[in-house]
Amino acid sequence: MTSPLNIVILAAGKGTRMHSDLPKVLHPLAGKPLLEHVLDMARVLKPAKLCVVYGYGGDALPQAIQGDDIAWALQAEQLGTGHALQQAMPHLDTNGVTLVLYGDVPLTRQDTLQRLLGHAGSDGMAVLTVALSDPTGYGRIVRDNAGRVTRIVEQKDASDVEKKINEVNTGIIAAPTEKLVRWLAQLSNNNAQGEYYLTDTIAMAVAQGVPVATAHPHHEWEVLGVNSKLQLAELERIYQRNYASTLAGLGVTIMDPARLDVRGALSCGRDVVIDVNCVFEGQVTLGDNVAIGANCVLKNVTVATGTRIQPFTHIEEAQIGADCRIGPFSRIRPGTALASDAHIGNFVEIKNSQIGTGSKVNHLSYVGDATVGNKVNIGAGTITCNYDGANKYRTVIEDEVFIGSATQLVAPVTVGRGATIGAGSTITRDAPAGELTISRIKQLTIAGWQRPVKKPKGE
Ligand code: UD1
Ligand code: CA
Repeated sequence: MTSPLNIVILAAGKGTRMHSDLPKVLHPLAGKPLLEHVLDMARVLKPAKLCVVYGYGGDALPQAIQGDDIAWALQAEQLGTGHALQQAMPHLDTNGVTLVLYGDVPLTRQDTLQRLLGHAGSDGMAVLTVALSDPTGYGRIVRDNAGRVTRIVEQKDASDVEKKINEVNTGIIAAPTEKLVRWLAQLSNNNAQGEYYLTDTIAMAVAQGVPVATAHPHHEWEVLGVNSKLQLAELERIYQRNYASTLAGLGVTIMDPARLDVRGALSCGRDVVIDVNCVFEGQVTLGDNVAIGANCVLKNVTVATGTRIQPFTHIEEAQIGADCRIGPFSRIRPGTALASDAHIGNFVEIKNSQIGTGSKVNHLSYVGDATVGNKVNIGAGTITCNYDGANKYRTVIEDEVFIGSATQLVAPVTVGRGATIGAGSTITRDAPAGELTISRIKQLTIAGWQRPVKKPKGE
């Protein structure tokens, strides 16, 4: 492609059937707004100009979507796709080709768009079409006896014979920009919907002897749009299935490709195993031989080689070392770093803490704002009391400390290297290295004490 490429994304429509206050193209697919998917696929084609036509929802779109490369064109009233594209024209390079995409058609592949642009060349028109078993609702591709495209007729304007045509307009069209400007200016809204149809430019091209080619996607899902929450959910499954196929193709063992959700990017080493119903958000990196149990949620996490994460574990903004054992039912919160061979067990919450090599927090504990050394054993039910209701303080637990069960460590506090804390202690001052520290009331027995007995009823 030598002539400059303009890409216009039509996104001014309301999306009535979404029944939502959020503009349709801001609804997320795989954790990212529909429009971002379309922008990302547009950018791969390296357009000279990238323009989004917006309207419904006002400034919500330009506010939600970042990008210095985007020219925003306001279509104040939604008078049809032709009128929408007209609003973009002042932002474009006049001497190139213009590719029209829809903000609610998120899964078109790069090779399909490149094929379409190839068919258009520098001076022709090309329409991405697809044959559907049920074409209802779409614009139909009308061809002459020689098979050449003559025009597109919308469902509401189509004759009974035309309604039987099953080749439809996907809406994705490439056209020479200079001619497009003139055609758009000539559109009328004298049709069943009273709209300015972009599709009417096809007949104009044919009348002027401009060749109109067609290209087709490899997969039907590439041209599926979102008009309802059900269609959004269906496209989500297609996206996720494709993502799972790619991972499996790279050697990742995915127990059920239909039960994987990646909302961001998941990168995996060799011999990674992922059990069912896991959700990966943001950037997640799993090293070689990592195993993720069923029903885990990982967001912006790096997991090093050989670590096993057992079912129902939730990890967010954390770095997990090699050969760790985590879960089942662990929660690891932002700012946490586990060194290698750490064990975090069931019903344990770790927040903003460093846990050293070979250290264990196996049962029912809260470790927050703590620096834990190597080979530390934190007994069941231990709590770092890191918050006094106003400020947060750190707990420091040095190497080879043993914390007895049901201990509270009232921060700021330091437990010295090799110290032992007796079970049930409330530690409010620093505990010296190498010693046993214990704070617990002495056990008492009241001899001969009687349990109260229930009084008989009615007295
Ligand atoms: C349009 C095509 C139809 C095609 C179908 C594919 C026309 C006249 N018809 O139909 O041939 O089969 O798409 O889905 O082009 N939009 C605006 N401003 C407007 C109207 C629409 O920005 O004034 C945007 C919408 O946000 C959407 C896209 O254009 O992203 C298509 O609009 P939609 O109403 O879905 O198109 P249809 O009329 O159904
Ligand atoms: Ca539509």
